[in-house]
Amino acid sequence: MKKINKEFLWGASTSAYQCEGATDIDGKGKSVQDLTKSKEGVIDFKNTSNHYFHYKEDVALMAEMGFKSYRFSISWSRIFPKGIGEINQKGVEFYNNLIDELLKYKIEPIVTVYHFDPPLELESQGGWLNRNLMVDAFVNYSTKLFELFGDRVKYWQTINEQNMIIQVGHVIGVINPKQDNLFKKLYQINHNMLIAQALVTKKYHDMKLGGKIGPAPNISYVYADSCDPDDFDASYKANAWRNWLYLDAACHGKYNEIAWNWMLKNGYEPELLPGDLEILENGKSDFIAFNYYNTGNVKASSKTGPIKFSDSDQQTSYDVPGLFDIKDNKNLPKTEFGWSIDPKGFLHTMRAMWDRYKLPLMITENGLGAYDVVEEDGKIHDQYRINYLRAHIEQLKIAINEGIDIIGYHPWSAIDLVSTHEGIKKRYGFIYVNINDDGEGDYKRLRKDSFFWYKKVISSNGEDLI
Ligand code: BG6
Repeated sequence: MKKINKEFLWGASTSAYQCEGATDIDGKGKSVQDLTKSKEGVIDFKNTSNHYFHYKEDVALMAEMGFKSYRFSISWSRIFPKGIGEINQKGVEFYNNLIDELLKYKIEPIVTVYHFDPPLELESQGGWLNRNLMVDAFVNYSTKLFELFGDRVKYWQTINEQNMIIQVGHVIGVINPKQDNLFKKLYQINHNMLIAQALVTKKYHDMKLGGKIGPAPNISYVYADSCDPDDFDASYKANAWRNWLYLDAACHGKYNEIAWNWMLKNGYEPELLPGDLEILENGKSDFIAFNYYNTGNVKASSKTGPIKFSDSDQQTSYDVPGLFDIKDNKNLPKTEFGWSIDPKGFLHTMRAMWDRYKLPLMITENGLGAYDVVEEDGKIHDQYRINYLRAHIEQLKIAINEGIDIIGYHPWSAIDLVSTHEGIKKRYGFIYVNINDDGEGDYKRLRKDSFFWYKKVISSNGEDLI
């Protein structure tokens, strides 16, 4: 078995709005997430894990685990309170301090420019549907980040899970599903984001700062439910619709034809301005950062007419008439929150991306959300999380052995934080944060069993997974 490269980036991930808190101080403007109405019994994003105040302690704990890298996002409205215009020096100071603190421990900062938290001021003017406003604002914001932090940050990701924003943005709280011509609008938003991403990628290349930039979609291989050729056809199309539409544009600078033809047939195709295809062609990614949680499973489509969202919280859990019907995969166990667990699917997903793009891959999210409990001994025995991560790292090693260029692994999440829509009770971290969904708790940090396990994994460079 090939050994994992010494430079391999072992770390973990977070996002700003899910862990920072401090939403109302030091000049931060409002983001859409600051106004998200949480479900009954679920905490909002006001304080979350209060990482803004605890970042030194959090980074010290990451260093104790031996992290080589840390993937986090920058809050746009902390840098530009109105999304554009006046800059907030306190926000700049926070990220300068965080980056310097990481570098003090030789932890590579890996930055996501945009993770589900558009500034409210821009959203109220149409958000991503307002192409002129949003594309310019995004290029301006990203360029500022490159100028401010590009001397120290060498890995950049543009947009976190653009495909999930388009497919289940209503679950994440960034898309209102009750609007006319929803899908026409969604694919225009998608196009505007692809243009913004390509312009920012080109800008970064032109600035010659010596780092890499790429997208960060959620990529899950979609299986065929049977060897019926019609189910295989559905799987092929589902992968195009769910995964390759986004990555073909970012990595090949082109629209995926199956996805494009589907949009055209349904009248969802975006308006392209002259020069748009050249913009995509000129802003191709250097690497693929991707998030993996589970696989999909489909059979031949039995429906016609428009898409209907189901009530389920699951990611990508609705049928797309004319392309595929979703089928539960009975071969896979599920987490307490109903997400299927499929470590081999992780390998299939990496193989599919490598075959298609031949670009370095970085895992920026992978993990298990669970109801962790602090036991009487004051410890958190999260063996289920260790089992989950171990099984995925085993597949990662197989992928590396096959020659796939994988440069880093970042489980979700470094510390406990608030889930997109299921509160803090759905915990993912190596580090427990003492706060509950009623907002009670002192934010004390505790090391879970997985903390000590991951420390061993890192110090043995992935050899010791026991
Ligand atoms: C990814 C997102 O989709 O999944 C994260 O990038 C999110 O922001 C994570 O938290 C887990 O999903 P959830 O819904 O359990 O929080």
